[in-house]
Amino acid sequence: MFTYAPMTSQMFSKALLLIFTSFALFFQLATAVPAEMEKRDVFTPPVLYPHAGTVWYKGQTHNVTWDVSWHPVNITNKIGRIQLRKGEITTPLILQAGFDILLGRIEVHVPWVEPGDDYSLVLFGDSGDFSAQFAILE
Ligand SMILES: *[C@@H]1O[C@H](CO)[C@@H](O)[C@H](O)[C@H]1NC(C)=O
Ligand SMILES: *[C@@H]1O[C@H](CO)[C@@H](O)[C@H](O)[C@H]1NC(C)=O
Repeated sequence: MFTYAPMTSQMFSKALLLIFTSFALFFQLATAVPAEMEKRDVFTPPVLYPHAGTVWYKGQTHNVTWDVSWHPVNITNKIGRIQLRKGEITTPLILQAGFDILLGRIEVHVPWVEPGDDYSLVLFGDSGDFSAQFAILE
């Protein structure tokens, strides 16, 4: 049997609170998303060197270079970091960090890793940009 249960004032205020919080959340989302997109100038400079066909030998020092000919006026994260990637996996190996992403080049020491021709670098600033795959040999 269906019995009509009148809404108590407690139930009413709970429902009201729910409506208010969902509205608040909705407005927060609606306003936060475009504002954040405006604010953030994502800068993912293409890595120029190493490129396809590059061969590095362990222990060498090389200048990693990237294109800074175009960049946003205000960059969210100017601090760069270079990490080694093998195949499809970004290794935890950091070759260089704490440099200005607008320098366009930074010296790195070739780490002692298993020889392979499927290495690449990830240049992190605002987000990561991959170099082409190249070889590291012993
Ligand atoms: C990297 O570039 C700088 C500036 O051009 C140069 O002085 C330095 O010798 C280079 N390093 C290597 C390992 O080529
Ligand atoms: C860049 O940042 C400066 C200082 O915060 C600000 O005055 C300027 O309007 C910003 N420019 C752009 C294009 O966002």
